[in-house]
Amino acid sequence: CGIVGVTGNKDAVNILLNGLKKLEYRGYDSAGIYVNDQNGKDYLIKRKGNISHLINAVGPDVKGSTGIGHTRWATNGKVSVENAHPQFSQDNRFYLVHNGVIENYKELKNKYLKGVKFTSQTDTEVVVQLVDKFATTENLSTKQAFFKTLNLLNGSSYSFLLMDREHPDTLFVAKNKSPLLVGVGNDKTGNVVCSDSLAMLNITHDFIALKDGEVVTVKPHSIEIQNLAGDRVERKPFHVDMDASATDKGPYPYYMLKEINEQPNIMRKLSQEYLDVDGKPTVDPKIISAMKKADRLYIVGAGTSYHAGLIGKALFEKLVHIPTEVHISSEFAYSDALLSQRPFFIFLSQSGETADSRVVLNNINKDYDSLTITNVENSTLSREATYTMLLNAGPEISVASTKAYTAQIALEAILAKALGEAVGQTTAQNFDVKRELSLAANGMQAVIDDKDRIDQISKKYFVHANRAFYIGRGEDYYVSLENALKLKEISYIQAEGFASGELKHGTIALIEKGTPVFALITQKKTAALTRSNLEETESRGSKGLTVVRKALAQPGDDFIIPDMSELLTPLVSVIPAQLLAYYTTLNKGYNVDRPRNLAKSVTVE
Ligand code: G6P
Repeated sequence: CGIVGVTGNKDAVNILLNGLKKLEYRGYDSAGIYVNDQNGKDYLIKRKGNISHLINAVGPDVKGSTGIGHTRWATNGKVSVENAHPQFSQDNRFYLVHNGVIENYKELKNKYLKGVKFTSQTDTEVVVQLVDKFATTENLSTKQAFFKTLNLLNGSSYSFLLMDREHPDTLFVAKNKSPLLVGVGNDKTGNVVCSDSLAMLNITHDFIALKDGEVVTVKPHSIEIQNLAGDRVERKPFHVDMDASATDKGPYPYYMLKEINEQPNIMRKLSQEYLDVDGKPTVDPKIISAMKKADRLYIVGAGTSYHAGLIGKALFEKLVHIPTEVHISSEFAYSDALLSQRPFFIFLSQSGETADSRVVLNNINKDYDSLTITNVENSTLSREATYTMLLNAGPEISVASTKAYTAQIALEAILAKALGEAVGQTTAQNFDVKRELSLAANGMQAVIDDKDRIDQISKKYFVHANRAFYIGRGEDYYVSLENALKLKEISYIQAEGFASGELKHGTIALIEKGTPVFALITQKKTAALTRSNLEETESRGSKGLTVVRKALAQPGDDFIIPDMSELLTPLVSVIPAQLLAYYTTLNKGYNVDRPRNLAKSVTVE
């Protein structure tokens, strides 16, 4: 979900609506705002569906100088106007927006709120009713009632923005496990609050990152931070060095296409940032010396970042000769894993906010060093890990991740080269990562320039398909997992990524006439085997398609990628399937950037 708030600005309505638009990728089941003009008038407007429905519902008479807004990705309670936020207390005094999940809300409701009239099925409403109950029946101040409520939530995950009609210039803010920033404005702009700085770059570039268990009172001219015990906390803001236009779509119809197109340049940029003119990595020596002590690497991530981690395994094992495990964060978190003697953890996360990954970091943080590789400076995983390396790929807005995947792989390659050299591995010394990234950038561009043909292939073989398979061996298999995820998450075609040798052990039963089977053939050792696995499906009626490294190409192959190190072919071999997913979704008439049921940044477990 996404959260925004503002106080001390007459244009509060537009600031909230613009902010919500920027955060729309965080959830778009429903959205709402509450604004108060501090002259006795206030407005609550909520709509189902994406932000445009809300914007259309806000008439010119709706004005205010303090307000809160929310875009929802449903957890408790179905998608409906009633369940949209802000939630309010039964006497219409308190209004609350919330990210996260209150685990004990049913107990609290039974214990404290008998007889209270509820209008939604959300856990959030329980919280706002509790504040109201304590404020009215126990005669507590708003802040006291808020503190009392927060202390009952048993460490649940939340970021809250609360407003009280009786204090209409104040935002009561609290955060635990869900991301939240306070934006420091000036006399003209007022102060703002948001779950992601992108939402408020038009207002300020200076943000205070809140820590778990903190409560903030935000007024037009003051920001007061306290911990749950009530002690004052002082913290300086950090500066976000990003242009507000970085989140614009430019000439592209969808963010996904823009982000696919940005990949060649990101390769060049990473090369400039993390390699010197001779191609020597310039990675922070502290990271390298911490990693040198490790006897095993543990790469942790979710979704596409997990898939980028799988490629990392190949890179670290080949270039550094260090055993490397890759784990899905939500699984690893509760697996009681047997760790090696000296583990080092690498967290991969585009957003730096994924709750599943954060649980793992919390579990290991006391005992071990870790590195977060992320696209978002000052994000939670970045702040909490020992070290950070930034992807600097520019904001990724489309829910389906593309440029973060390739940027993560490129950065893993640079890091593996640096570490491999530091431990004296000749494979690392001989690995010309600068040249490889440049070859990758050119190879990516060639595929992107061929996008019309991919559109044709999509129309011919994918748009009407019920299912599709992506196959390969080794790294080609890992990329196939990502390829399948891309197609299914946005086009809703059931797709599976498969180790091509494993097909014959069951899955081949699903092949029917015309089922697309998309094979990656970039690794010399297994090329012939994958080809014969593809033929096995073709002789049962499938439509085979191939992405092949040039030296391994045969007449009739569909996409030829340049000859480059087999370790880094994923940077290019993933691009045809990214575009295929894009065009298939477009051709089916769906919203590419906002697939149903999904959110970009998932801050609940
Ligand atoms: C969500 C997104 C995915 C993403 C995953 C991990 O599920 O929809 O695209 O890969 O989270 O996100 P992260 O920000 O940790 O890379």
